[in-house]
Amino acid sequence: MSNSEKPANSDTPAAKTNQAWGGRFNEPVDAFVERFTASVNFDKRLYRQDIQGSIAHARMLAEAQVLTAQERDQIIAGLTDIEAQIDAGQFVWSVPLEDVHMNIEAALTQKIGIVGKKLHTGRSRNDQVATDIKLWLRDQIDQIAPILTRLQRGMIELAAKEASTIMPGFTHLQTAQPVTFGHHLLAWNEMLERDYSRLQDCRKRLNQSPLGAAALAGTTYPINRQFTAEALFFDRPTENSLDSVSDRDFAIEFCAFASMLMTHLSRMSEELVLWTSAQFQFIHLPDRFCTGSSIMPQKKNPDVPELVRGKTGRVNGHLVALLTLMKSQPLAYNKDNQEDKEPLFDAVDTVSDCLRAFADMIPAIESRKEIMFEAARRGFSTATDLADYLVRKGIAFRDSHEIVGKSVAYGIAQNKDLSEMTLEELQQFSPEITADVFNVLTLEGSVAARNHLGGTAPAQVSAAAGRALARLAERN
Ligand code: ARG
Repeated sequence: MSNSEKPANSDTPAAKTNQAWGGRFNEPVDAFVERFTASVNFDKRLYRQDIQGSIAHARMLAEAQVLTAQERDQIIAGLTDIEAQIDAGQFVWSVPLEDVHMNIEAALTQKIGIVGKKLHTGRSRNDQVATDIKLWLRDQIDQIAPILTRLQRGMIELAAKEASTIMPGFTHLQTAQPVTFGHHLLAWNEMLERDYSRLQDCRKRLNQSPLGAAALAGTTYPINRQFTAEALFFDRPTENSLDSVSDRDFAIEFCAFASMLMTHLSRMSEELVLWTSAQFQFIHLPDRFCTGSSIMPQKKNPDVPELVRGKTGRVNGHLVALLTLMKSQPLAYNKDNQEDKEPLFDAVDTVSDCLRAFADMIPAIESRKEIMFEAARRGFSTATDLADYLVRKGIAFRDSHEIVGKSVAYGIAQNKDLSEMTLEELQQFSPEITADVFNVLTLEGSVAARNHLGGTAPAQVSAAAGRALARLAERN
């Protein structure tokens, strides 16, 4: 055996390299490579879950008689101390120790001696990190879900209050037909309702324990995967060890949820920005959600919705980053996967903040009812109602469409809405028009007539708001 092949001991260079895997190395890792490959600066965020997973693993090892009860208790006590130390901000993280897992394990060994080195029996950082991220993401999902619910509750309650507030409904951002503001808000709520169910789907699918997959093939120790799965409140252990350590589809799925949610919040933001503008003035946003301009004293900018709209881009970016990270990886674990954390962490943080901002802001919206009403009155928003009226008088829809088109052209030339024309003026376009036409040309008549499930009639909006609130109440 040549000198350089000697096993590591205190007088070989390998002794200066990493204690967790330094055994087969002849020289210490390059200082830059050490920093380049380390993840502790960001994955230390997983410390609680890492310790939680280690405690479950130690319990299971004792159950399987791989550890004695005394060793188990020493390990658990040591880990509990370390957690308290990290909580208190007294833990010193070391970059040479690479990641959160090895930092904690090294601290444990320092604290309790040789027994600390037994913790890693029958597991690998590969199943450990997959477990940590799943536990962490599950915790985050359980914190995000109630904020989403709070936002929805505020939105539905506002919708109920605004069930008969009339505003223009748009297609192509052109005035189309009158709707109620409550109906518009409930449309937003439906988007969020689906986002909520996507979030819960993601939670359901991720909730399987990878622990026991070890590096990739499983382990030779008599482990009990059911035991650790239950201890960590997973529904069951994962089926396949190779898959367990390699796929990050659960993180991708969360980011897909996050992108969809942000896309929805961004659409809402866009409307809030439009509606607070001098050109629309549909709503008032309290000053606390806005900021001023350093140069233009008159300005009040809707920064919160603008920022939410802007942050959608970065969340979409994280989704694409994770999909790209995964797309060409051979089975099983690859170091590429260390790159999963920063995008995931930032997606979680961004979504949490944006939801919170929205949950605070939405109930504070004040509608400017007269301005909304006036806007709906302009733009011939009851033209379809006139066409439907003529159909009820026996005229074919295509012909009535033509008749109303001509009335609108006349209205544009005369600068008059349909409801402002006299009966004689309207009758130039069809003799079938009689005095009762004015019931359908009013905005109130127009919305009230759309009185079916999913329609904009105030009665329907109130009922829909009631059902939406009842659905929220069923969430646990
Ligand atoms: N820091 C690593 C990660 O985040 C932990 C797993 C490392 N495993 C390994 N065999 N190098 O993915």
